[in-house]
Amino acid sequence: MTFSPADIVSQSNSNKRVAIVYGLRTPFVKSGTLFRELSSLDLGKTVVVELLNRTEIDPEEIDKVIFGTVLPSIKTSNLAREISLGSGVPVSVPAFTVTSACASATQAFTNGVSSILSGDSEAVLVGGVESISDFPVLFSKSFRTMLFDSSKGKNIFQKAKPFLKMGVGDIAPDVPAIAERSTGLTMGESAEKMARQNQISRRDQDEFALRSHSLAAKAQNEEIFRREMIKTFVPPDFEQPIFMDSSVKSDLDIETLSQLKPAFDREYGTVTSGNSAPLSDGACALLLMSEERAKALGFKPLGYVRSYAYAAVNPKDQLLMGPAYSTPLALDKAGLSLKDMDLLEIHEAFSSQVLSNIRAFASKKFAEEKLSRTNAVGEIDMDKVNVTGGSIAIGHPFGATGGRIILTLLHALQRRQVNFGLATLCAAGGLGASIILERE
Ligand SMILES: CC(C)(COP(=O)(O)OP(=O)(O)OC[C@H]1O[C@@H](n2cnc3c(N)ncnc32)[C@H](O)[C@@H]1OP(=O)(O)O)[C@@H](O)C(=O)NCCC(=O)NCCS
Repeated sequence: MTFSPADIVSQSNSNKRVAIVYGLRTPFVKSGTLFRELSSLDLGKTVVVELLNRTEIDPEEIDKVIFGTVLPSIKTSNLAREISLGSGVPVSVPAFTVTSACASATQAFTNGVSSILSGDSEAVLVGGVESISDFPVLFSKSFRTMLFDSSKGKNIFQKAKPFLKMGVGDIAPDVPAIAERSTGLTMGESAEKMARQNQISRRDQDEFALRSHSLAAKAQNEEIFRREMIKTFVPPDFEQPIFMDSSVKSDLDIETLSQLKPAFDREYGTVTSGNSAPLSDGACALLLMSEERAKALGFKPLGYVRSYAYAAVNPKDQLLMGPAYSTPLALDKAGLSLKDMDLLEIHEAFSSQVLSNIRAFASKKFAEEKLSRTNAVGEIDMDKVNVTGGSIAIGHPFGATGGRIILTLLHALQRRQVNFGLATLCAAGGLGASIILERE
């Protein structure tokens, strides 16, 4: 494993702090359902407009807009700029889009943080968005070549000629796969592999999924997400607001989960639609400022960034183990240990991935062999983990989840009046991202 020099720059050495002034998200809903008619641009604009209204910030104060997404539409490839232009941010404010699989919003967030720490910006609007309902579908390469050749034709005959060779297969759509280019395995197959190699039983996976739903349902009942979520109105009549994460199941039981058929290895598998994060649509936005600027403008921040780190593992090994590598780096930079963390938000792509990472954190063998450390990173107290449920219940719009877990964690730190929190995600490509936040 290698780390880039940028990863080992310590944010904790700087006496400047980045404040998270405010944040919001849409509800996360199962793809193909309630947000079916909304594009990523629609979802992104909805959340940014509301954030600008609620904070009453003068948009002229914003120096930069950065958004993450995984499946951009070819019509809005710089989605951040379109969101910015469509939300009332001044046209003179630069905006760019980043992608880093499920850590795309995290990447947008930390790009914003480093822009402020470097003195390049004072206020950055960051976020992430995904509409899997509106995923881009391409024509096959052969058909695209015909279209290209046809566009060069000077007359109707030359324009028609490339299509004379066309076969039925040429017009088959080219659909994006949730699979690793380097291994050909889907995320789900990688989660199966991790369950097998780390001996995570089907029962343990289902119990973890049940926990996610129970905690999220409890949080919904107690209206805990009200502070982070906006009402979202949908076409055609824009009358009934959506104000709930739609995948959360309050009446789930272990028997129902245990009866679901494996989704990826039909014969011997243990990973099911019940113990995986559902494909979802949603958006999230956060306003970052230097601590000084936030104070000068009279904001009371939700919290501050203490440190962050990224790591990457070989996708041919255990693909979704990134958090076990990036977290000790972030803790070192913060000058803190795992037991100092009052709360943890761990992205739940699959139960098997969360449970594998939690075991790795506690393993001395893992620390010695994979991290070249003498001691385990630490035992995780499950009472501190995903206290309002996680992506398995809440949903997982790829590009938005990184922002959602930061926002959820900040609110949980506020609610419980505790100080330190860890937000960590695995992502395709073998990536891991960890951010340490502090309330005060
Ligand atoms: C797992 C996955 C393949 C399931 O997709 P799907 O088959 O379209 O999922 P569905 O929501 O239709 O669920 C299938 C069935 O399971 C049921 N089900 C799903 N979740 C359930 C739950 N928590 N409890 C009970 N039943 C559940 C559904 O009701 C449905 O039942 P039906 O077939 O009788 O209607 C898909 O969600 C997926 O690919 N997730 C992982 C995404 C991913 O790779 N993320 C990247 C992470 S890094």
